[in-house]
Amino acid sequence: MTRQVALITGAASGIGQALAVAYARAGVAVVGGYFPADPHDPQATRDLVAEAGGQCLMRPLDVTDSASVDALAEQAVAHFGRLDYAVANAGLLRRAPLLDMTDQAWNAMLDVDLTGVMRTFRAAVKHMGEGGALVAISSIAGGVYGWQDHAHYAAAKAGVPGLCRSLAVELAAKGIRCNAVIPGLIETPQSLDSQNSLGPEGLAKAARAIPLGRVGRADEVASLVRFLTSDESSYLTGQSIVIDGGLTVRWPD
Ligand code: NAI
Repeated sequence: MTRQVALITGAASGIGQALAVAYARAGVAVVGGYFPADPHDPQATRDLVAEAGGQCLMRPLDVTDSASVDALAEQAVAHFGRLDYAVANAGLLRRAPLLDMTDQAWNAMLDVDLTGVMRTFRAAVKHMGEGGALVAISSIAGGVYGWQDHAHYAAAKAGVPGLCRSLAVELAAKGIRCNAVIPGLIETPQSLDSQNSLGPEGLAKAARAIPLGRVGRADEVASLVRFLTSDESSYLTGQSIVIDGGLTVRWPD
């Protein structure tokens, strides 16, 4: 059987790295993009995928640069001969109260967290034949809740489900499905950043409000994404699925 190929943005850390491992275990080859300006070493993902018996090509990527995104999709086809799935996972998170919000900060956030998703899907779909699947990572911040001091992040993440619904309709005739995943609090470098997110103490405190009693793990989100790109979800498109341990459905105390 021909091995399927998945493109993942932001694959050197957190959810993207866990997804590369999940694909390796499922026999799906991975082309991962890593952002060189960030401190994550792409070799860690290469090693984890190799340990899981998979194949993985890690390449520098900046999702704000269309040429860079196009090049990653081209490398997937050049290296593995096909492209079946694309996961727009790369994300930027910054704290910025409204009165400190510069146009530059606003535009930089949307450029990564919303326009970056469109660039990723546009680049990937060019190389997909009949059939395939796209998944974007939104957030409960914007996707469900508001989040003070993060209006730009929440606005970008709120845009992701709308983008996915529209592409689900537009690409259905090509057999390409498109869904969004809306994670709650997941322990990754992003959420552990005390400056821009909750940090370790904030996560521990927030865990007490989560019905399942803990924050989520990156591999738990990765399982859902892998399911959404597999044939097991063949009739599922245009949906936004919350994965949050019950946080957004609990009765407020
Ligand atoms: P992370 O910070 O480990 O992953 C984000 C990745 O995006 C990093 O590898 C980073 O280098 C990459 N990236 C940033 N700017 C980029 C650019 N311009 N071009 C290419 N790559 C770039 O954190 P995490 O949590 O794994 O984030 C993955 C996704 O999940 C993000 O979209 C994030 O917003 C989203 N998310 C995370 C939640 C959490 O609690 N950790 C909750 C809800 C959503």
